[in-house]
Amino acid sequence: MCGIVGIIGTKPVADAIVEALRRLEYRGYDSAGVSTLENGRLTRARAEGKLRNLEARLSEVQLGGHTGIGHTRWATHGAPTEQNAHPHMTSKVAVVHNGIIENFQELKDDLVAYGAVFSSETDTEIIAHLITRYIEEGATPIDAARRCLKELSGAFALAILIEGQENLMIVARQGSPLAIGYGDGETFVGSDAIALAPFTNTITYLEDGDWAVLTRDGAEIRDLEDRIVNRPVQKTIATTLLVDKGNHRHFMAKEIHEQPEVVSHTLSSFADIAEARIVLPDLPVDIEKLDRLTISACGTAYYAGLIAKYWFETYAGLGVEIDIASEFRYRNVPLKSGGLSLFISQSGETADTLAALRHCKASGQKTVSVVNVPQSTMARESDAILQTLAGPEIGVASTKAFTCQLVTLACLAIGLGVKKGLIDRDRERELVNALVSVPRHMSHVLQMEDQFEDICHILSKARDVLYLGRGTAFPIALEGALKLKEISYIHAEGYAAGELKHGPIALIDENVPIVVVAPGDELYEKTHSNMQEVAARGGQIILLTDQDMEQNGLELAAKITLPPTHPLVHPLIFALPVQILAYHTAVFMGTDVDQPRNLAKSVTVE
Ligand code: G6P
Repeated sequence: MCGIVGIIGTKPVADAIVEALRRLEYRGYDSAGVSTLENGRLTRARAEGKLRNLEARLSEVQLGGHTGIGHTRWATHGAPTEQNAHPHMTSKVAVVHNGIIENFQELKDDLVAYGAVFSSETDTEIIAHLITRYIEEGATPIDAARRCLKELSGAFALAILIEGQENLMIVARQGSPLAIGYGDGETFVGSDAIALAPFTNTITYLEDGDWAVLTRDGAEIRDLEDRIVNRPVQKTIATTLLVDKGNHRHFMAKEIHEQPEVVSHTLSSFADIAEARIVLPDLPVDIEKLDRLTISACGTAYYAGLIAKYWFETYAGLGVEIDIASEFRYRNVPLKSGGLSLFISQSGETADTLAALRHCKASGQKTVSVVNVPQSTMARESDAILQTLAGPEIGVASTKAFTCQLVTLACLAIGLGVKKGLIDRDRERELVNALVSVPRHMSHVLQMEDQFEDICHILSKARDVLYLGRGTAFPIALEGALKLKEISYIHAEGYAAGELKHGPIALIDENVPIVVVAPGDELYEKTHSNMQEVAARGGQIILLTDQDMEQNGLELAAKITLPPTHPLVHPLIFALPVQILAYHTAVFMGTDVDQPRNLAKSVTVE
């Protein structure tokens, strides 16, 4: 994950910026850089690889200046070279950026026509050129930045310096976290409070859509509509910790809100976003000949696998055998030697999944694991790993690891489909672009959080809750029910909507809320019939959808309409409302959200 640091100070800042960047190393990165304003002029030092390379560079070029920005970059657009490292700059503007600018190509085409000369392959560089253009056209630095921000589409965090403006830094947050820190005559910005801990523990977290003008005296924060807003100033305890809750009450809330950022980072490691291509690491099998896949996992990771089954079938033409690892390991599954087995695990240490992996290896299978912890036992024992870049997940109930698993598995399914000749270039482009839009849509859903409150009140009064879905919405229904029961202790079950008539319909009366996960796809009509069956029996329907479909007189207890998205990414988007529902219901009920009773983050025993 990229890291951002900025300081408007009273003494030379380059070394302090590197010190703060070091605290963001845990996010992972492959190049780094610093830019300062020295006597009003922009300077810069960048280096490939680790921070020690940047320090070596800084000892040669010695950047002066009391105002500066720094960055650790995890490559998204373009290789991890010095040329692509941040800050990106013109003679007038320097910028560091975390996230993805989706519409960078059209902006770049315009800027090239205007005469801008680009020196990197990144999406970031367009920001420096666009602000430069507006300044050249007569805008003030702040207006130029404001106009530029309005043109950017995507999920991102930014810090911007302008030539000649030593007491000014412009920062913005849309989907990727950013915290402002207050010192004595100094102001700071960082990707999280951990980065700022050496300087200050007085912090304001920007909200999505916020942008701010920083000076040595503090910050003026504006929202999406340009209204000046007051965001709470808080004391953080991040000084000694490597993970903190930010401005959230629980780690789970923080992790839910990190999803636009971590999904975007994970996507970047399996896709060339500029080219809209999937880039997979070498896999230990002959993909052209591959026709079957075996998947094992536990808990939430198993539901990620269930969703991936639909994708592997649809996009890669693969037959999929998927089972809960604790069942798989004791079944006598005939495994063809040289076949491919896939394991999904946040921790990489879950005892049953590990046992399934060892069982498959012993049967001559090639093994690939989707893991979040690259040093884990599963990572070490697998023939290949696909690492999710969710960062440390502290809440016992998995959230961001799940959506990072999903984006990884979607890339794998598409990549296999391309290699097998089932997906042509246009289709690949369409599917990758759909994935690229996910962080932006997730950020939109997170901004709708207030709309979920009334529903949480309904759920908190229930003894039983049913979740229904069809297609990839079925595993989301299972995951929604799991989340709710794990952290609120309300009994909940997920069902395939078509199974309603085969049992669960007997449970329905006016006391049972039914959460229906129904994107407006070709299955919607079928699910609508199921909703009518529920309504006829007095059930309270809570509809999660993404289109304004005709309800034909159907009475709903509540409805949330998410932004419409490509069918491929429905599960990535619909994962968020079911997490939010479970989280706020649990908070309302006063349970221990991050450490629910009887549960463990990593189950290392059978
Ligand atoms: C536990 C956790 C779940 C997780 C499951 C699998 O039950 O509480 O959140 O989904 O283990 O863990 P893994 O680390 O293998 O993904």
